[in-house]
Amino acid sequence: MQLGPHSLANPWILAPMAGVSEAPYRRIARALGAGATPTELVSARGLIRGQARSRHYLEHDAGERPFWVQIFGGEPEIMGDAAACARDLGAEVLDLNMGCPVKKVVKTGAGATLMRDLSRAAKIVEAMATKSGLPVTAKIRSGWDADSVNAAEACRVLAAAGCVAVSIHARTRAQGYSGRADWGVIADAVEVSPIPVIGNGDIKTAEDARARLAESGCAAVMIGRGAMGNPWIFAQLAGRRADGPTNQERLEMLRRHLLAHVEFTGRELVAIRRFRPHLIWYSRGLAGAAEFRRQAMRLDGLAQVLALCDTFFGGAEDAAADEEIEIEADVAFG
Ligand SMILES: Cc1cc2nc3c(=O)[nH]c(=O)nc-3n(C[C@H](O)[C@H](O)[C@H](O)COP(=O)(O)O)c2cc1C
Repeated sequence: MQLGPHSLANPWILAPMAGVSEAPYRRIARALGAGATPTELVSARGLIRGQARSRHYLEHDAGERPFWVQIFGGEPEIMGDAAACARDLGAEVLDLNMGCPVKKVVKTGAGATLMRDLSRAAKIVEAMATKSGLPVTAKIRSGWDADSVNAAEACRVLAAAGCVAVSIHARTRAQGYSGRADWGVIADAVEVSPIPVIGNGDIKTAEDARARLAESGCAAVMIGRGAMGNPWIFAQLAGRRADGPTNQERLEMLRRHLLAHVEFTGRELVAIRRFRPHLIWYSRGLAGAAEFRRQAMRLDGLAQVLALCDTFFGGAEDAAADEEIEIEADVAFG
């Protein structure tokens, strides 16, 4: 799969996820075999104003190539300027967020609203490409709602505007994250799209990923919730291992991720609190996870959290039931 001049090592991509696809987890996903790791959504206005938070989102390792940055915003001129800022901070590929369903974002003309205004989305892509000189991709939804599914049409319009690839989260904005992703929409878009299509939605296992890629004919797939607390999915896809992680591997990965997260965040207390969802995800499927989470959610100190993890993962066994993946209700995503 190509993104402009950049060839991806494989078609297994970590989906952009606010609070998850930060530099430490992107590094882990890549080390285990992910072919690409776009950033979470970054505000165009924040980039232009030089806000510390937006710049922080663009921190990355020199080895993260191509460095693929997702931007959200609704005005072509501002998006063009933001694209140039992102390039100056190291971006090599840019992604336009056309999927974020959150009201705060949608009402500014950004995110999923762009599915209802493809001509504005096209102007944004043109501005981003012209001002940055970088390849631009877009991440879209199936459509705004069930009556306006227009992913295939969006692929044509975005390609004509200069997009080099489109990722499709096969749910409408109205669906949010509920219901099932409709991979038929992705297969239909593949048929007509002049540019590579990346499929996304409900991939939970390596087998799912391989099957969806083959059935839909898309060029690559993005894995979101199925990769939370589970970077091993990329090792399985890269053919580096067949099984899931042992408890000891979970513990080692969690420690590595947490310590990198503390370093990335810079403030221990803030880092520990933001890391709490990851503790939940790494403990998914293990017996006694509910009690571990109750205890973990009360701890603010790094040493305490690490000690609790040592005890829990040292003794936990697999639970019989597979748990559903929970989403934090207040995260802004696409
Ligand atoms: C916590 C969370 C944060 C997300 N943040 C973003 C984001 O910043 N940008 C984006 O385009 N999509 C975002 N998404 C959507 C995912 O990239 C993906 O499209 C969606 O989760 C469907 O894929 P999945 O079924 O594999 O999870 C987010 C999803 C979740 C669960």
